Amino acid sequence: MNVLFIGDIVGKIGRDIVYSMIEKITSENAIDFIIANGENATHGKGLTEAHFNELLDSGIDVITLGNHYAAKKEIFNYLDTYENILRPQNLHKSIPGVGTNVYDCNGVKIRVTNLLGRVYMSLDVDNPFDALNDIIENDDSDIHIVDFHAEATGEKYALACGFDGRVSAVLGTHTHVQTRDYRILSNGTAYISDVGMCGPYDSILGVKKEDVVTRTWTGTPTVFEIKEDGSGLFSACLLSFDDKTYECINIRPIYMVLEEGEY
Ligand SMILES: [Fe+2]
Repeated sequence: MNVLFIGDIVGKIGRDIVYSMIEKITSENAIDFIIANGENATHGKGLTEAHFNELLDSGIDVITLGNHYAAKKEIFNYLDTYENILRPQNLHKSIPGVGTNVYDCNGVKIRVTNLLGRVYMSLDVDNPFDALNDIIENDDSDIHIVDFHAEATGEKYALACGFDGRVSAVLGTHTHVQTRDYRILSNGTAYISDVGMCGPYDSILGVKKEDVVTRTWTGTPTVFEIKEDGSGLFSACLLSFDDKTYECINIRPIYMVLEEGEY
C-alpha cells in the first residue's frame, strides 16, 4: 500500500501544481491514499470551502491544517460538515471539527492525525504529546499517519522518537522547506522533519521575495503577497506499507521543480 503525503499547498499556483502532479504521480505509481496539508491553499493563509472541494477534486482524500487554520473565517461553518478535513487536534475543545479520524482504504483502516507544535509557534495549544497519547490509547487502526505542523525540528523529532513504534509515520509540515533527514526510526516509525511546500519556486516560502527581504532587513512592515507565477515547486513524501503487517517499509521524499506550462 502506498500513501502520498503532500506538503503545504500555497495559493492558486500551489493548487494548480498539485492538480497536475497528482495526475502524473498516480499514473507512474500505485497510490492508494493521498493526504495534503492545505492550511495555506487560499491566497497563502487559510482554506475556503470552495478551495477545499477543489483539492478533493484533484484526488486528495484528506486535508490537514495548521496554525493558519482560521485565517478564512468561513472554515468555522464547514469544519463539522466534512469528515476529510482535520484541524489540529490540540486546539481548544470548543473549536469545531476534529483533529484525528480513521478512513477506510480498500478495507485498511488509515488514521490521520493533525497536531500543532508549541515551540516558536504563536498559537497557545495543548500539549501535542499528551494529545497523541490520548488518541493512541483508543486506536485500532492499521496505519496511523501524523502531520505534526511545527516550526522546530527538535520538537518534531522528539515527538517522533517519543512515539516510535506506536504510530506509522510522523511527518513535519509548516516550514515550507523540505528536509533531508527522512528515515525509518529504530522501532519502525517513518519520519521527516518537514515535507516542504507546493507553490512558487522563485519565492521565499511562497511569498514575493522583495516583501520578505524588506521586512527582514529593515523591520519595515510589509504585506506578504503570494507569488502566483513563474516556476513551481512540488514537495511530497511517498510512504510504502507492507500489505500484510502494515509496517512502513519505505519513505521517499519527492522534490520537483516545474517550469511554467508544466503545471
Ligand atoms: Fe503553518
